[in-house]
Amino acid sequence: MDRCSHEIFPRIMPHVHTWVNLFGPNYLNWYGHQAQLVVTEVELIKEIMNNKDGVYPKIKLEGHAKKLLGDGLSSTEGDKWTKLRKLANGVFHGESLKSMTAAMMSSTETMLKSWKEYDGKEIEIRLPGISDWIKSDDDMESEKLEQGIKYCILEIIRKRDEEITNLNTSMNDYLGELLVASQDEDDLKRISIDDVVDECKTFYFAGHETTASLLGWTVYLLATHHEWQERAREEVLEVFGNANPNQYSITRLNTINMIVNESLRLYPPVPALKRKVETKVRLGKMTLPPNTELYICPIAVHHDPKIWGADVHLFKPERFEGGIAKAANNTPAAFLPFGFGPRTCVGLNFALVEAKIALVMILQRFKFKLSPNYVHSPVQVFMVRPQHGVQIILDAI
Ligand code: HEM
Repeated sequence: MDRCSHEIFPRIMPHVHTWVNLFGPNYLNWYGHQAQLVVTEVELIKEIMNNKDGVYPKIKLEGHAKKLLGDGLSSTEGDKWTKLRKLANGVFHGESLKSMTAAMMSSTETMLKSWKEYDGKEIEIRLPGISDWIKSDDDMESEKLEQGIKYCILEIIRKRDEEITNLNTSMNDYLGELLVASQDEDDLKRISIDDVVDECKTFYFAGHETTASLLGWTVYLLATHHEWQERAREEVLEVFGNANPNQYSITRLNTINMIVNESLRLYPPVPALKRKVETKVRLGKMTLPPNTELYICPIAVHHDPKIWGADVHLFKPERFEGGIAKAANNTPAAFLPFGFGPRTCVGLNFALVEAKIALVMILQRFKFKLSPNYVHSPVQVFMVRPQHGVQIILDAI
């Protein structure tokens, strides 16, 4: 694939791309014995994702996915979802994020210290993740891994419990809130320790892989569009100089915001979402029987020239200058990197602040260009990832 081509929909989902062109924006597909309605029309996507009556629940996880995520916020339904979502909403809103930015900066700092050795040389933006360690199809092996992860998390919980008892520290992060909820005297509000473990797994997976994908693709885009890298750096220096970023001034980074949006549009980390039909329902002009699976494709919508214009496959952050609605031809729901409706990503603000902090700190310290060794091969392994990593050449400022 041409290393500057962003036309990735036919590459990531060649079958959907072909069949949408053949059969129209929504079509029925048989996935083995499972009927699956592929949906790429924004109005229908909105109707599905906005539904609050439980007509289109999430699909029950099975196999490796179930072992990885358990029954956490992203997959659970009903009262348990309401309880967990309330807890997470409380922690991941603007004010509470403030207390997390120091940790974000210090881990970026650690990463960038190791980059110093690579001045003038090639470095690979590593996106370690789940896909690196899911190598086993062996059920016993994956059972062992599942237990291992569980014990690691229980150990973290034990240490946190100890800290709370010994130091009487406040518990205003998500793990703290979960632990408080696990001791709630009200049966309706209480969650089990297994629930706490599943939440830890969910947040690690949902938060890490996705943000790593966003950062990897944004660095790739800036390494191939130097004029935007320069504009972004100018903005960073104007807002922060060489000082560390902070959460409040981050909202003043208009250029970086446009760049991140355009990166999420072209390379949405989550290219498809699944739901199922619980009971017979009318969707648009169709009547769907129960148990139909719904396969919703943000990547198709993000690459639709009817919405974004003839330049849909070009990296043009300026399209977001007047906001999302204007960029999307007055169809704001056509931009759904974080999903839509009540199940919208709960970590949206966290992810954006984290990605922007990392970008600011990189731009303050380095200029970078794409290495001749980079091979452009976007693939979907859970998320949309660069198959062979992103190699850049660093130039310390
Ligand atoms: C660029 C980064 C991210 C992207 C693109 C992303 C994308 C998404 C999408 C598309 C959904 C909706 C899934 C669906 O409707 O089926 C979602 C849900 C979710 N995300 Fe994210 N996410 C990101 C970062 C994060 C972070 C940092 C966290 C945690 C700190 C997180 C936690 C979750 C959780 C728990 C849900 C399920 C919410 C619910 O069902 O109520 N995500 N995310």
